[in-house]
Amino acid sequence: MKVSRSIVISPVVTPNSQNTMLLEPVGEKLVSGVRNLPGTTIRTPDAWCANNNVCDIMQTLTSVMVFAPASISNIGPGFDVLGAALNVLGDAVFARRTKTAGIHFTMQTRRTDVTIEPEKNVARHVAQLMMDELKPEFGVELVLDKRMPVGSGLGSSAASSVAAALAFNLIQERPLQKSELLPFALEGERLASGSAHADNVAPSLLGGACLVRSYDPLDIIRLPIKNAVYWTVLYPKIVVRTEDARHVLPAEISLRKAVRQWGNVGGMVHGLIAGNPYLVGKSMEDVIVEPVRAHLIPGFYEIKYAALKEGATGCTISGSGPAIVAAAPTKQKAEKIGLAMKTVCQRTVQLESELYISKTNLTGAIRLKKGRS
Ligand code: HSE
Repeated sequence: MKVSRSIVISPVVTPNSQNTMLLEPVGEKLVSGVRNLPGTTIRTPDAWCANNNVCDIMQTLTSVMVFAPASISNIGPGFDVLGAALNVLGDAVFARRTKTAGIHFTMQTRRTDVTIEPEKNVARHVAQLMMDELKPEFGVELVLDKRMPVGSGLGSSAASSVAAALAFNLIQERPLQKSELLPFALEGERLASGSAHADNVAPSLLGGACLVRSYDPLDIIRLPIKNAVYWTVLYPKIVVRTEDARHVLPAEISLRKAVRQWGNVGGMVHGLIAGNPYLVGKSMEDVIVEPVRAHLIPGFYEIKYAALKEGATGCTISGSGPAIVAAAPTKQKAEKIGLAMKTVCQRTVQLESELYISKTNLTGAIRLKKGRS
């Protein structure tokens, strides 16, 4: 299978400037791989990467350990187009060159709620696609350290896919640019859920909050956010498969709902950039997807109500659930909200849950200094 590497990453714009960069296949041509579009200001990929804290790949290694963070996606109105990386949870992948050809994949986990099915694993799939594309003269040992729960709504498959792509990439003679890994990681999402949505993969790889402006061509905007919102994430311990949660979605929506939804998407983008937790919370309203998915999460409305009553500025399903995310202006508030959500989850539907408080992770996937765990 041929993975299209065509992608536009719109860099963070500075006021009064418009930067557009088309990323070319890299190698030695890294810096020259920027097309100067009429009327645009060009920064070199290096400068761009440094500015955005996303580039760590121009160093050849023979073994590497990589971590990719969890993420909340949709964030209310932005179904398939909005996501933010978290500072809690994520997956790690160890990659090492081997003399024997091919991919030698294993998986380990300390979680009791994760089953080990290496054959169907997205990390293996992504690495295989990269091997088909890059054709290295060596084999690759890949170990997925599955730290995240599966089917949680926190971008579990995205974290595995991203970590695998970055780990595989880093041990290549001529690694691709970090953003060029997106199409490969997206194929992991396609394998996991039948749909190559980028709203988890993009923030997990690049960090921060990302907007998928377009899928055709793939155009990701890493939003220049002011990191002021605390996310309270409650993960009730049930599995909701993204594939199933996508089957309940309507094929068409009314113009009235669309108008309300894109008003909220705009509000969310502005709220994140301005660092306004009140606007972010208000804009977490989702009139299209949340209403048809809520029944997949026992006690969803009770938990949401508890969060809002405790001062959450907004609350909605994280990705395809069952995780539920609320926004708060302070850490203290976020903790109180979390406690209320967890208590209701336990009392109302007798579900165990995991609770996380996090600001947006601005780094995305990284190489870990530590060796294999
Ligand atoms: N945007 C995707 C969905 C995210 O809501 O189906 C899946 O985690």
